[in-house]
Amino acid sequence: MEDILTVEGLETHFRTREGVVHAVNGVSFYLKEGETLGFVGESGCGKSVTVMSMLGLIPNPPGEVVGGQAMYNGQDLLQMTDEELRRVRGSHISIIFQAPMTSFSPVFTIGRQIAEPLEMHMGMSKKL
Ligand SMILES: Nc1ncnc2c1ncn2[C@@H]1O[C@H](COP(=O)(O)OP(=O)(O)O)[C@@H](O)[C@H]1O
Ligand SMILES: [Mg+2]
Repeated sequence: MEDILTVEGLETHFRTREGVVHAVNGVSFYLKEGETLGFVGESGCGKSVTVMSMLGLIPNPPGEVVGGQAMYNGQDLLQMTDEELRRVRGSHISIIFQAPMTSFSPVFTIGRQIAEPLEMHMGMSKKL
């Protein structure tokens, strides 16, 4: 099987008053179709920042992806425009954030929150 995701030398910094934090410092990994990959590490070691860097979700400032590449379907996610990334997020690559109980909004029904990405990315309508 071919790799569908190839991340090489990923580097993400945060500029803080105390100096530059090297949150992700040269991370590489490869993923084949159907494969499951887990990152294990202590809190704050960079698991979330790794994945958020790939999807353009690092707030800049203070953060910045400063190196590496993340090839998906022959395209570098790190070079994509916001519009291109929006098309990838939710339809090809999704994040389920930590603490799912608080990731949902109590103001909207679960159905609404599950339907929204399908409407946005798959062009589905509310009708059955
Ligand atoms: N907004 C920020 N400002 C400064 N440093 C940050 C910021 N967000 C994350 N970091 C740094 O990135 C590191 C990795 O965080 P994170 O990826 O969330 O860890 P985890 O492995 O628990 O998911 C943290 O230890 C912190 O030093
Ligand atoms: Mg995390």
